[in-house]
Amino acid sequence: MALADFPRHRLTFGPSPIHPVDRLSAHLGGARVWMKREDVNSGLAFGGNKTRKLEYLVPDALAKGADTLVSIGGVQSNHTRQVAAVAAHLGMKAVLVQEHWVDWPDSVNDRVGNILLSRVMGADVRLSPAGFGIGFKESWKQAIADVEAVGGTPYPIPAGASDHPLGGLGFANWAHEVAAQEAELGVFFDTIVVCSVTGSTHAGMIAGFADLEHNFGGRPRRVLGIDASAKIDETRDQVARIARNTASLMGLGREVHDDEITVLEGWAGDLYGIPVESTDEAMFLTGRLEGVILDPVYEGKSMAGLIDLVSSGEIPRDSNVLYAHLGGQPAINAYSGRYH
Ligand SMILES: Cc1ncc(COP(=O)(O)O)c(C=O)c1O
Repeated sequence: MALADFPRHRLTFGPSPIHPVDRLSAHLGGARVWMKREDVNSGLAFGGNKTRKLEYLVPDALAKGADTLVSIGGVQSNHTRQVAAVAAHLGMKAVLVQEHWVDWPDSVNDRVGNILLSRVMGADVRLSPAGFGIGFKESWKQAIADVEAVGGTPYPIPAGASDHPLGGLGFANWAHEVAAQEAELGVFFDTIVVCSVTGSTHAGMIAGFADLEHNFGGRPRRVLGIDASAKIDETRDQVARIARNTASLMGLGREVHDDEITVLEGWAGDLYGIPVESTDEAMFLTGRLEGVILDPVYEGKSMAGLIDLVSSGEIPRDSNVLYAHLGGQPAINAYSGRYH
């Protein structure tokens, strides 16, 4: 089955916009930087990368007769907020397990930003003391059992919609969208820079660009993942596994090679969810020069990576680099203690 044959339930407006950020490029003095904006991809609660992934999970949920989406993430998870929005949009319920992934002292951490939005959208929000980890947890099994106990039909969606057979398809499709937009814009993005944590955003891109290259005559390019989990080995394993599973699901027709899987470390700091100096610098630089807002958990870290790779010339100076802006701005409200 090719990518185009998988059912897709439209949750995004259409192709997300691509635009250059020339004041940032001039400041960095290297490659021309462009952004593709998943932060404005949908009208559902500010959208983001999970909305795009969920387009391929929703048909499965509907086919299975589910009436409740059950998912899990940190207290300030962007993913669970997007699950809450999609559930509301479909007339379903949402049960969200919000774990203590980040030891962050901000007094409003569990009251503002993403978790506030999920509450506004009517989700059953459950705080859990468990720490950072993308594995399967007791609290999550309990949430599923609770839905069943009252006669509901749960549809479980793992953290980041990543450890799900269909989790990589949204960003495989993103790659095809990029190719169509390149043709319109008359530009080729030699390098893509993307933040990676639960892995299926980056992994889907790898599968999608391999598909373009192998089956549609596309030119090769680099997809650079920037780790924001501070657990580089786990991120690499996760990205490799999901890229390979997604490629075989889509009938790529060849193996995904090791050199197609590049997850770089150096900008995550010591812990997931805790910004470091380079994160703050990236957020403030992008805000001041472009009026584009990045969050301190994900996009601030991947932009810090892009800044170093572009200004050092590691991304060639005469090339075009596409920064995948994956959303996540609501979480910035939980960091008011750091930015005031
Ligand atoms: C704003 C934002 N950027 C990047 C990521 C990382 O994406 P993934 O979990 O698919 O690796 C996430 C979610 O984890 C996110 O919410």
